[in-house]
Amino acid sequence: MKNYYLTTPIYYPSDNLHIGHTYCTVAADSIKKYKQLQGYNVFFTTGTDEHGQKIEQKAIEAGVSPKEYVDNIVVSIKELWKKMDIHYDAFERSTDPKHEKVVQEIFQKLYDKGEIYKSEYEGYYCTPCETFWTEAQLGEGHTCPDCGRVTQLNKEETYFFRLSKYRDKLLELYEKNPEFLQPLSRKHEMVNNFLKEGLEDLSVSRSSFDWGVKVPFDEKHVVYVWVDALSCYLTAIGYGSDEEKFNEFWPANVHLVGKEIVRFHAIIWPALLMALDIELPKQIFGHGWILFDNDKMSKSKGNVVYPEPIIKLYGSDALKYFLLREFSFGSDGSFTKEKFMKRLNSDLANDLGNLLSRTVSMVEKYNDGYIPEAVEAEDIDKELIDLATTTSQRVDEAMNHFEFSVALEEIWKLIRRCNKYIDETTPWILAKEESKKQRLDSVLYNLSDSLRIVSILIQPFISDTSKKIRKSLNLKGEVKWEDTNSWGLSQPGEKVKNLGVLFPRLDIEAEIKKLDEENEKLAKERAEEKAKWQKPVKKEEAEEKVAEPVNISTIDDFKKLEIKVALVESVEDHPNADKLYLLNLKIGDERRTIVSSIKDNFSKEYLTGKKILVITNLKPAKFRGIESKGMLLAAETADGRLSLATIFDDLPDGTVVG
Ligand code: ME8
Ligand code: MG
Repeated sequence: MKNYYLTTPIYYPSDNLHIGHTYCTVAADSIKKYKQLQGYNVFFTTGTDEHGQKIEQKAIEAGVSPKEYVDNIVVSIKELWKKMDIHYDAFERSTDPKHEKVVQEIFQKLYDKGEIYKSEYEGYYCTPCETFWTEAQLGEGHTCPDCGRVTQLNKEETYFFRLSKYRDKLLELYEKNPEFLQPLSRKHEMVNNFLKEGLEDLSVSRSSFDWGVKVPFDEKHVVYVWVDALSCYLTAIGYGSDEEKFNEFWPANVHLVGKEIVRFHAIIWPALLMALDIELPKQIFGHGWILFDNDKMSKSKGNVVYPEPIIKLYGSDALKYFLLREFSFGSDGSFTKEKFMKRLNSDLANDLGNLLSRTVSMVEKYNDGYIPEAVEAEDIDKELIDLATTTSQRVDEAMNHFEFSVALEEIWKLIRRCNKYIDETTPWILAKEESKKQRLDSVLYNLSDSLRIVSILIQPFISDTSKKIRKSLNLKGEVKWEDTNSWGLSQPGEKVKNLGVLFPRLDIEAEIKKLDEENEKLAKERAEEKAKWQKPVKKEEAEEKVAEPVNISTIDDFKKLEIKVALVESVEDHPNADKLYLLNLKIGDERRTIVSSIKDNFSKEYLTGKKILVITNLKPAKFRGIESKGMLLAAETADGRLSLATIFDDLPDGTVVG
């Protein structure tokens, strides 16, 4: 049997995976089912990326050990995949001792081969993305070019991987092998943004924290979390433990990944594999993002849509269908609840649901519920049969390029054609004349057999619905892809069953309300669930523990801070926090609000009209729902007396301090 290995990324454990996260897993699951239908022996790996500074910080904030933290969250992730009927073969946890051993072996091997050397790293690190950046790559205000958050300047002893020496080999790989990185736009991005300028060696160990796999020959270091995570793809199929299985499934046919992590998969990963003399995966596919209000969905932006309420109200097939049909896999797409409801109504309720219910009820009404025999074929029948038996070819073509949306549209062309066929052949008129009985029988058979083909075509995408249709038409036996090319496999005489409405038509406005309510309910439940095992320390304590010292070691570092004179125009109470003020500032031509905890120290009257000093080039942060843009400077004595920094003379607001 032909083998096929595919992976999703190894997810960071998060207690709130949103529908953006489910995108890749849904796609991978469809590919798996699709390849299986075609007779492949498929292995599908997903999992969790549990080491690293980010997780360590989250655990500190939650007041539990990193291991407790990830153990709890992994349970909920697995639950979600179960709810979504995702059939992975390996759920690889990077904290699994078997995997940790693999990571150590890999690291040792690289070291023994001279691919890793010890030195010192000085540069910028984005903890949320677990990514090193050079100064030139940073955004304004030393922000991460990927996520926009402020990076930290790090200086630590580290081991470097000789990534630079793989630049030409990578360019050659892309050139000779255009399939390696898809869609093509991603290749241009890699070449132009990363390879053209030349590659720098990569820091692959950290020594400033220790939640990670220990470097086997230097216990002060832990392996860089990306090297650890990528290796999960190998561990999952037996690298280092089951050579036979490993050889069966490696090289991977495809690693599906979101566009922001293509770089790790298309540059770092192949370079590491080359260094290890391991064959390269056949393809990396970088899919787009699901956006919400044109922004990347993320908890910190407060624009998250969770999958559970959608599944609860409409079923996992509805969510899967929407994700795969609405968006083009390689590009970004915007999620709205309205779009979701509309798609459900038009495609699932109207097109597919109606076709099934019309067909079944006509078979019941006009032939006692038994599938009749087709006796003649008119031109209109031949046209339908031709469309039905060739649709799978077009689906195939689309699926070879992971164009799920195109594949589904091809299937829906057939579904819509069937509905039109009913309108054109008017079975209810045929039923009025005894002499038209044979014609009526043929029409009903053609519809039933078309639905049989549809039930196979949709199986990789919405398998639950496929099952229902097959049950309704009393179709027996194994579902086989090749049966989509043959006409007439439905058995006359089988009794159909009316199983009720497949997808009800939704009143969009009312449903959006319902969904919002469910979302809120879920958020509450989650908070309660969390309170059961998390012991959050006081925010200030957590911040203290978590805070990375900003490494200001030179006068240039200091100069990076932008400090300006600001006029306090007005002061308000924070609507959601007793101890916070909102300071409305005028800074030259600009107006901003800073959230500040100086309410105990100063009255509104005292502050209003004052000129104070403010750091203006910090990343905005939200405090209890209100965004704070900047930070004021103050001096505080040990017994809590506070004074704001200001200037002696009355200079205009907006004046730069430095
Ligand atoms: O990056 N739309 O994990 P992760 C589409 N641990 N995809 C989205 C998305 C959105 N709105 N938000 C997230 C990591 N994703 C690493 C991977 S692999 C060896 C290590 C996708 O939990 C994102 O693009 O941050 C990525 O592919 C996946 O979710 C996991 O992201
Ligand atoms: Mg991410």
